[in-house]
Amino acid sequence: MLLARLAVAAGLDVVLSNSRGPETLADLVAELGDHARAATPQEAARAGDLVVATIPLKAYEQLPAAALADKTVIDTMNYYPDRDGAIAGLDTGDSTSSELVQRHLADSRVVKAFNNIDFRRLSTSARPSGAPDRSALPLAGDDPAAKVEAARLLDALGYDAVDIGTLTDSWRSQPGTPVYVQPYMAERPEGLSREEAERWFFQTPGVPVPVDRVKELVDAATR
Ligand SMILES: NC(=O)c1ccc[n+]([C@@H]2O[C@H](COP(=O)([O-])OP(=O)(O)OC[C@H]3O[C@@H](n4cnc5c(N)ncnc54)[C@H](OP(=O)(O)O)[C@@H]3O)[C@@H](O)[C@H]2O)c1
Repeated sequence: MLLARLAVAAGLDVVLSNSRGPETLADLVAELGDHARAATPQEAARAGDLVVATIPLKAYEQLPAAALADKTVIDTMNYYPDRDGAIAGLDTGDSTSSELVQRHLADSRVVKAFNNIDFRRLSTSARPSGAPDRSALPLAGDDPAAKVEAARLLDALGYDAVDIGTLTDSWRSQPGTPVYVQPYMAERPEGLSREEAERWFFQTPGVPVPVDRVKELVDAATR
């Protein structure tokens, strides 16, 4: 939803979908304006030049593989066992979550991106190309051309891109790694009440994380 907002602001046309049906997205579409419409997941998949998959990881096998064939699919998903339930291969580190997504979308080109920044900073830290306080985000994928496409989208939406390798390498931006979420946020003061913490989360500007810092953080990841 936040990505759709950034995309519309960048002049792109977006087609949104969810599991409950296009009519449930009417308010959001109205708010986004003429560059947005809603459709079923199959229709949205077919409509997109680039498709962003942002659903709970536990539902990844519901992504419409046939409709997504030959497309570049940006996977923003993360694995949280408490939320997603245990997914075979992920707790052992045998596979990255994006490798599972790629296996399901065998005829698509999966690029992992946007997974390591929280939705609030995603919108407030976006900056035009060349801005001194622009942040960078890691991306990973097995298809070089798809990564170029994804990097172009990042650029249009307000971010530099750092290619961190293949989907196998994408563990370096998964939850718990140095580049995951925290560097993009200011340090939260101690002792906040629940309401204060919520206000802090929504009102505190992000911290710019430039290309070189992303590279350092990604290199510092350990398993
Ligand atoms: N939130 C963040 O700040 C953030 C940041 C980085 C990465 N991520 C990752 O992005 C993924 C989504 O996170 P989220 O916070 O956006 O979760 P979410 O709000 O629970 O889900 C996002 C959307 O997915 C739709 N959806 C759920 N199941 C679906 C299905 N089977 N088919 C089609 N649409 C479906 C939901 O709508 P319906 O329920 O109406 O279908 C909802 O609009 C997660 O893996 C998360 O870790 C989130």
